[in-house]
Amino acid sequence: MDDIKKCWYKEMSVYQVWPRSFCDSNGDGIGDLRGVLSKLDYIKSLGVDAIWFSPLYKSPQKDYGYDIADYRSIQPEYGTMEDFKEVLDGAHERGLRVIMDLVINHTSDQHEWFKESLKGDDNPYHDYYFWRKGKGPFPPNNWMSTFAGPAWEYNEKLDEYYLHLFAVEQPDLNMDNPNVRREVKDIMKFWLDMGVDGFREDVITFISKREGLPSSPYWIPVATGIENYMHGPHLDEYLNEFKNDVLSKYDCMTVGEAPMMTTKSALKHITEGENQQLSMMFHFEHMAADCFIYSWFKTKFNLKKLKKVYTRWQNDLYAKAWNALYIENHDQPRIVNRYGSLKYRAESAKMLATMYICQCGTPFIYQGQEIGMTNIEIDSIDKYTDVSTKNNYNVAKKILGEKKALKLANYASRDNARTPVQWSDAKNAGFTSANEAWFCINPNYKEINVASQENDPDSILNYYRKLLKFRKENEVCIYGKYEEHYRDSDKLYVYSRHYENERMLVILSFCDKPHLFKAPDGFDLKDGECVLCNYHNPKLVDNGCLLKPYEARVYLFK
Ligand code: GLC
Ligand code: CA
Repeated sequence: MDDIKKCWYKEMSVYQVWPRSFCDSNGDGIGDLRGVLSKLDYIKSLGVDAIWFSPLYKSPQKDYGYDIADYRSIQPEYGTMEDFKEVLDGAHERGLRVIMDLVINHTSDQHEWFKESLKGDDNPYHDYYFWRKGKGPFPPNNWMSTFAGPAWEYNEKLDEYYLHLFAVEQPDLNMDNPNVRREVKDIMKFWLDMGVDGFREDVITFISKREGLPSSPYWIPVATGIENYMHGPHLDEYLNEFKNDVLSKYDCMTVGEAPMMTTKSALKHITEGENQQLSMMFHFEHMAADCFIYSWFKTKFNLKKLKKVYTRWQNDLYAKAWNALYIENHDQPRIVNRYGSLKYRAESAKMLATMYICQCGTPFIYQGQEIGMTNIEIDSIDKYTDVSTKNNYNVAKKILGEKKALKLANYASRDNARTPVQWSDAKNAGFTSANEAWFCINPNYKEINVASQENDPDSILNYYRKLLKFRKENEVCIYGKYEEHYRDSDKLYVYSRHYENERMLVILSFCDKPHLFKAPDGFDLKDGECVLCNYHNPKLVDNGCLLKPYEARVYLFK
């Protein structure tokens, strides 16, 4: 039997807070830390073990905190360092760990380092960034920004361009400069010494660029040049340095974000043992079952594609490395709109929760996901606030025309996940006492909100609680080996887990009509206990059942 090592971060589940839209305490329409403080008991009540905060640092908010102007202070709109410490203590008192977002691929153009770098190449900070001369009238190379457009911005005074793989206001840091790495390590220490429990490391696989920054022969939408900066030449070296000099000295966890990563490249960083660099990593492959690479290249939802990806990650990592599981975050449209059904919103939200939380890995839950929040329909591009939405829309408009581009934005925009959390059916969904929140509130808040689900035993919210409790209490759900069944079905996703003498069987229907299910060989359902189901009184017919639309069942065999 495979030897799987136990450890605290494998047993936990994590709740992600995107602070701007979580809870506003002072009536300015913007979520803040005292708002978080008032909801710590709520977060704890979900049964999670940790909170990951999207960036709380001082930032001009061009990319809502992923453009950091000062790594050691709190964005004034969110509160003060004292407020943060209160949240940290309050979380710890409740047994919740705190994970910070660490964005080191780039800073804000308002960071002191960048301002200094603008003073010219004799300034020591000039080499903190990638400043280069153009090629005649053209930028130094043909790389594209992830947010659309070229990855270079010209500065007239210096007659040089700087590299930005994301927004113009997010200049890339030159990690090859040992002083930059020293700064990064100092920042890590600063937060770990304060007591935080780990980091989510933003686009961490982009931090080492190929020497000479060569142009790319391939045109890849929003990613031309990526082979020169994804898993770059010194990535291992830098991750080792961060680990050896800082992270290994603390009892902390790390989760690295890595677009376009495969299991093979992940294993280089997360295989357990002496050379492990990160605890786990976020990949994106399972978020492309309804699109090509990312949601703006929309395709029809394809269950077989989804299952194939999940099975590959479950099998390739088992007993070697650990998965980070998620179906939503601040960069992804809401999952019920994508892989579920609006008609069967509650059923499909619960089914999708079961689908990923019962896999082997650490589950992450994004704010609002636990009540089945949905995408928002916005009728004008001007009402969107996300920089990448605007850029992608402008590109889409040229190809599809305005109307279709807006419809696509309604489906694909990251802003879908960034509407304020719907706490109640009161004014502004109970998010703020201001007249208006900083961003649109989904008009469906009267129907979809935390308060109405609190007291409903059948709510999505209470299903999440049951599910997380089940996971925590059953090692088979945490450590069990995964096996997929009925691989060829395009309606059902069925897998089992096996640990010591226990087994569990997870049955998921992606069908909006009743669908027949027969237990796979080796499973006698009447010997098991149906521990989770999103419908009442799940019945058996022979050794199977007639699954209702989007039904999910979990059988436990002891
Ligand atoms: C990551 C973040 C995203 C951000 C980008 C640039 O993908 O999750 O929100 O825009 O990096 O920092
Ligand atoms: Ca506020």
